[in-house]
Amino acid sequence: MMRTKVVQILKHVQPGTEVDVRGWVRTKRESKQDFAFLEVNDGSSLANVQIVVDASVPDYATLIKQIHTGASIAVVGEVKESLGKGQRVEVHARTLKVLGTADPQTYPLQKKGHSFEFLREKAHLRPRTNTFGAIARVRNALCAAVHRFFQERGFLYVQTPIITTSDCEGAGQIFQVTTLDLAKLQQIKGPIDYSHDFFGKKAGLTVSGQLEGEIYATAVGDVYTFGPTFRAENSNTTRHLAEFWMIEPEMPFYELEDNMNLAEAFVRSIVKDVMELCSDDLAFFNERIEPTLLASLQNIVDHDFIRLTYTEAISILEKSGHTFEYPISWGKDMQSEHERYLTEQHFKQPVILTDYPREIKSFYMRCNEDGKTVRAMDVLVPRIGEIIGGSQREERHAVLIDRMKECGLNPEDYWWYLELRQYGTVPHSGFGLGLERTVQLLTGMTNIRDCIPFPRTPKNADF
Ligand code: 4AD
Ligand code: MG
Repeated sequence: MMRTKVVQILKHVQPGTEVDVRGWVRTKRESKQDFAFLEVNDGSSLANVQIVVDASVPDYATLIKQIHTGASIAVVGEVKESLGKGQRVEVHARTLKVLGTADPQTYPLQKKGHSFEFLREKAHLRPRTNTFGAIARVRNALCAAVHRFFQERGFLYVQTPIITTSDCEGAGQIFQVTTLDLAKLQQIKGPIDYSHDFFGKKAGLTVSGQLEGEIYATAVGDVYTFGPTFRAENSNTTRHLAEFWMIEPEMPFYELEDNMNLAEAFVRSIVKDVMELCSDDLAFFNERIEPTLLASLQNIVDHDFIRLTYTEAISILEKSGHTFEYPISWGKDMQSEHERYLTEQHFKQPVILTDYPREIKSFYMRCNEDGKTVRAMDVLVPRIGEIIGGSQREERHAVLIDRMKECGLNPEDYWWYLELRQYGTVPHSGFGLGLERTVQLLTGMTNIRDCIPFPRTPKNADF
């Protein structure tokens, strides 16, 4: 007999059907009259299935004593209409097997709720809780929605390298990759000779797949990458990870306006898909985590994003009369408090800001005629702030070389990137969406460390 998943039993299986159900016991309630209720979860849904076990089950008395919260069991029994409220059906056990016990003296996940901080120390068990099971399902639905959006529009999914020798953001936040013997290097004075290193030159983990994405976009057309990204920035915030996933579409013949239209359609489409695919999980987050969640997501789906320039946004912030922890003025990078003020207080809507000062943006963004700003766009959302960063790319060879020098980069290191501008250059654009920040948006979880199965942050790479 095939195992039936709990989600199937709860939603589709008809009373009278025999099923084989397996999972982990969330709670056990024993009655004196020789029967017990077991709440069993297998991760396929937020809700547990209730199993009724009585003395007619072989070895009832012995087995029921072995079962505690966390134990794994296998049950064969009949699905019956449930008299209890909140559930359509339950399973009446004919046979019961204890696959693995869990000692109630030591099993860390007891019935009472645990703090998210505590659960981060138990990353091997936290997916067994309601919250982390729900996050896993939302993240999965989100990834499927991402691929669906681009595949339906004829974008090619391109895999860009994880190990690289170029710094896309030019910000020097690269984790180095080396096979050199660090202990021996310590004894050598003078510069390190990377010709002896594995790749023959200094290499690291990618901070973005964009530069390679541009290569494919200017050959095969619309593309997207979707992969892990690494940044050695020492920021201990609730929205930064050292290892995160990013989705980066890149489109030839797109100018900034087209790029904004795509980004907006993309965000609205994935939010809508996840609301449909994970309605039970999102209802749970709305009830337990963030009471404005569903309303804010519906708002994203139903309304156009506000579009304005960085310069206009700065003037709104300056006139706001609001005291910010980091005072803001033209030329400064926005902090999440500024982004959140715009999306939560001022517009109460997602916002796309464009035309940022060139000093605070990357070398590859197209320079505006004013000599001060670049064709950048950031998409900001309530509760998080920046969720997308993107731009129209600088496609003019000479301008790009000047801009690289201005940013302190050596154009020779980017020779292949520059050649894209020498041979058949075209206007093109792209952007990057942070997957974990999107999970934050969709679940209302306040800390990004809870939005990836195994977070990597400064001083933390356990599990
Ligand atoms: O704005 P960023 O740095 O843009 C790029 O990397 C471009 N190469 C993208 C492109 O145009 N193809 O990063 C894009 C997004 C941010 O808006 C944010 O959502 C996420 O990636 N992100 C992070 N998420 C978690 N932890 C971090 N340390 C992140 N840094 C960026
Ligand atoms: Mg950015």
